[in-house]
Amino acid sequence: NQSSFGMIGLGTMGSNLLQNIADHGYNCSGYDNDPKKVDTLNNLSRNDIHAYSDLKAFVENLKSPKTVMMLVPAGKIVDAVIGELLEVLDKGDIIIDGGNSHFTDTERRFADLEKKGYHFVGMGVSGGEEGARKGPSMMPGGDKNAYETIKPVLEKIAAHVNGEPTVAYMGERSAGHFVKMVHNGIEYALMQLISETYEVMKKGLQMDDKEIYEVFKKWNDGRLKSYLIEITRDIFAYKKKGEDHLFFNDIKDEAKAKGTGKWTSQAAMDLTVPVPIIDIAVSMRDLSKYKDLRTKASQMYPDPKEIKFTDKKGEYIAQLEEAFYFAMVSAYAQGMHLLYSANEEFKYDLNLDLIAKIWRGGCIIRSEFLEDIYAAYKKDSKLKHLFLDDSVHKNLLKSISGIRTVVSDAALHGIAVPAFAVALSYFDNFRNEEMPANLIQAQRDFFGSHTYELRGKEGVFHTDWEDGGN
Ligand code: 6PG
Repeated sequence: NQSSFGMIGLGTMGSNLLQNIADHGYNCSGYDNDPKKVDTLNNLSRNDIHAYSDLKAFVENLKSPKTVMMLVPAGKIVDAVIGELLEVLDKGDIIIDGGNSHFTDTERRFADLEKKGYHFVGMGVSGGEEGARKGPSMMPGGDKNAYETIKPVLEKIAAHVNGEPTVAYMGERSAGHFVKMVHNGIEYALMQLISETYEVMKKGLQMDDKEIYEVFKKWNDGRLKSYLIEITRDIFAYKKKGEDHLFFNDIKDEAKAKGTGKWTSQAAMDLTVPVPIIDIAVSMRDLSKYKDLRTKASQMYPDPKEIKFTDKKGEYIAQLEEAFYFAMVSAYAQGMHLLYSANEEFKYDLNLDLIAKIWRGGCIIRSEFLEDIYAAYKKDSKLKHLFLDDSVHKNLLKSISGIRTVVSDAALHGIAVPAFAVALSYFDNFRNEEMPANLIQAQRDFFGSHTYELRGKEGVFHTDWEDGGN
């Protein structure tokens, strides 16, 4: 009984995704060079899944044209596995990289494999371990014909929203991995915003864990409904057996990162697209690692004497909800702006409405608000920035006062809300017809003859500023 789908890398993600595929009626094979992982899968004793520790045997058991997906750590391992695969696969076979590969690696691998006659699909997979098992969101890009071949499987195993699968062909070459990278950038931004919300409730409003739980619970029943708010609510209810304190309070305040957020910021800087909420989210994870410096500085620079935002907690929570809504919209808007610009630069042929559509389910950043994003891009697929959409515009106007209140109170009381603050300042400059950038141009020209352009006059000019003028 030959398999129609092969998976390389039988960690939890690979194993779960393979079981998901088998559940939908496909015979599957798995390969890993770790015999323990092979045994774990074989010990499930499913007659529709066979795992191998011998690559040749694994490949021989696949139907032609063979479809092999890799779920291995990004980087050199992907190249090594592709190298091994080329020795055992035939031209015309399909290789899918489902890991979080850097889009420039995917770009290179796509070109190389296309030249050699193989079909390569770089595919972002989101939804974590549970998503892989029950229905992820998938962002494939690259070889369009190969996508058409694997589309029926992917559509079956994906999550579904209103009966439609959360998978679609993203675009040319490395488009799939670029889109997944931006997804992760937004993920970083939203997580940072949620953690700042927690900080405001805990330190600014002196709320206890139970009260904070109630807020996240309520938010998840409203317009902020999203996977990340939902799991945050659950974290605020999680106690280990026999213990009466919340478990997450035992965790060190030092955040780790595998790099996709940083890549998003790097790519955005290369494309000269501002995504400051993502940037600050990456930076704050970095700052969290300097525990010893933070500890020392906390003694040198103590808190202001009285930290108390308000006596009216209930009313304040409504403002905080507005602030979070405003900043959340801004985080998605910055990510979408980056996708818009990357599409122009890299000629990916992306459809922003389709991206919003498949992010509505299965992935980590799925949220109620993605319905609005989807609606905005469906109405105008060439929309340059989400802030310019009519309905987003209306809702943002209503939430500005909330974010101004929270950011100013936090500043006055010495509570760090960098992502909220940068969301607000980005917005205030985005709506600023006259930025002070003329002064920067004057300075550049003053010290380095970098030249400037003038209002109402064509051309590029330079002034000898040292001559003192008039
Ligand atoms: C997903 C996630 C996932 C990512 C983790 C960890 O969409 O399922 O984005 O792909 O690996 O979120 O990322 P960090 O280790 O960088 O926080």
